Amino acid sequence: MISLLSDLTAIASAAFAAENLAPEFGVVQFSDRPDLAQFQCNGALAAAKAAKANPRAIAEKIAARLKESPLFSDVAIAGPGFINLKLTDAHIENAMSPLAYAPDSVFPDTGKGRQLVLDFGGPNVAKPMHVGHLRSAIIGDCLQRLYRANGWKVVSDAHLGDWGLQMGQLISELELRQPKLPYFESVDLSPYPEQSPVTMEDLEILYPQASAACKADPARLEAARLATAELQAGRPGYRALWRHFFKVSEAGLQREYASLGVNFDLWKGESDADPFIPDMIERLKNDRFAVMDQGALIVPVAEDGDAKEIPPLILLKTDGAVLYGTTDLATIIDRVREYNPDLILYVVDQRQHLHFEQVFRAARKTGLGGHAHLEFIGFGTMNGADGKPFKTREGGVMKLFDLLAMMTGEAEKRIAEQGLAAEYPADERAAIAKAVGIGALKFADLSNPRLSNYVFDIERFTRFEGKTGPYLQYAAVRIKSILRRAHEEGFEAAAPRIHSEHERQLALQILALTDALAAAEEKRAPNVLCDYVFELSQRFSRFYAEHHIMRETDVELRAARLGMAALTLAMIERVLRLLGIEIPERM
Ligand code: ARG
Repeated sequence: MISLLSDLTAIASAAFAAENLAPEFGVVQFSDRPDLAQFQCNGALAAAKAAKANPRAIAEKIAARLKESPLFSDVAIAGPGFINLKLTDAHIENAMSPLAYAPDSVFPDTGKGRQLVLDFGGPNVAKPMHVGHLRSAIIGDCLQRLYRANGWKVVSDAHLGDWGLQMGQLISELELRQPKLPYFESVDLSPYPEQSPVTMEDLEILYPQASAACKADPARLEAARLATAELQAGRPGYRALWRHFFKVSEAGLQREYASLGVNFDLWKGESDADPFIPDMIERLKNDRFAVMDQGALIVPVAEDGDAKEIPPLILLKTDGAVLYGTTDLATIIDRVREYNPDLILYVVDQRQHLHFEQVFRAARKTGLGGHAHLEFIGFGTMNGADGKPFKTREGGVMKLFDLLAMMTGEAEKRIAEQGLAAEYPADERAAIAKAVGIGALKFADLSNPRLSNYVFDIERFTRFEGKTGPYLQYAAVRIKSILRRAHEEGFEAAAPRIHSEHERQLALQILALTDALAAAEEKRAPNVLCDYVFELSQRFSRFYAEHHIMRETDVELRAARLGMAALTLAMIERVLRLLGIEIPERM
């Protein structure tokens, strides 16, 4: 791994230490004015403030020491005491050479020996998926790829919503429609039929009707509540029926996520926490963490200094049913026992922030989270042109399949407009359109800071120009085609060299990936990767516009440029893979 920034920071820190100043002032970062400098260190200003000294005088002392290093071609002081640094081309070339041989050495290995449990997706059994689930899938999948690549052990869990009121709603709805089914007898009639009484399509019709009926009629809502409580208490017929609902939904959801290219290690659900709940409740009661409050069992989680009131976590309702917070708390016990994670990340709609605050506080207070650090990774919504969470034209929730079909259709149009893939076989063209459609959607989603809302704009997402998925896919395909032609011509590639400012800028961006990967991990921020790869592609474009590769007659120069192109591609490929975006072989 080559983290330029850590190497340079180490050198600058040593310079500060040698001047009897705190080494922490030696932080080096990429310059925000790449036209003036490659790197900068602003520590002299802070050091001067701490020592009540003149910043420029300190900067001069540090700069004098840095000038002794053979790494720098230029060390200059700007303004009140910023230190601007430029590396020698030889050092940049040296730093690139291990990458050219082993491109995977770009990953920073920050997760070595650490275990992550990643909770994302979170679709609900029988309820349709909505854009929140889509965003969770896209962001969560990117994080799972990133953390794995950075050396973490990762277990991802779809954590299906399968234990809440919607299950009771479905049970009581079906009971009204088909009262003769064996599941509704109060006695245990097991074994129950293997065949599910409902299909995925049935559930899609049943659930909205059940939910509407419960909204309109308090008696129906009461019946659904009762059925939920009885299901949770273990009523055999309800459990058997619930298993059918679960299986049928799970199969449908797995297909939908697979079509998006998203995978989970575990397809557990809220219900998997059920076996842990009785013990947990016993313990929390005994240790007086849980107390009765108006018939419900709660864990108060308010803390001194709270700016606004944080309501207690409710463990048991008056009817004995458990809630979302109960299963989330008990799921932590399960995860700690199974994986002993260092970190559990929950990639869920920002609107659930308070829920997770309550759960995390309860876990901390009661100690049931072990040494795991629990963290909520919220995100904003994908909105329609009306500024409200994205829906279909008819006002319903868009199904993932339909959304993907829409993206693919639009991509097809764009590809044809660009005159791409025109003579390819139809199935290859269709595969390209699918990759471009999904790539457009994922990139559009991931390139926003995750907490921002953004507007679904299919026309902009699928453009081949600008900061889009298709632009990056095309950039990669274009480099692939250069390398393929070079191979056909028998042109060899060699270690990348620097002869021009364009090459220098491209090389520096290549070398910035390790730090970008570490920053994306630390901030749990896929948009850092998007910014990185877009800048890399742009620098490659400029390089390619200014320099011949195939037409270069100087063999060594051509080989070095081919090496630079190959290394650029290797980095683009790695980043797009982390974003879950496929690169077609050709377009
Ligand atoms: N099923 C939930 C929903 O649809 C999301 C689950 C998120 N994960 C969790 N551990 N609570 O809102």
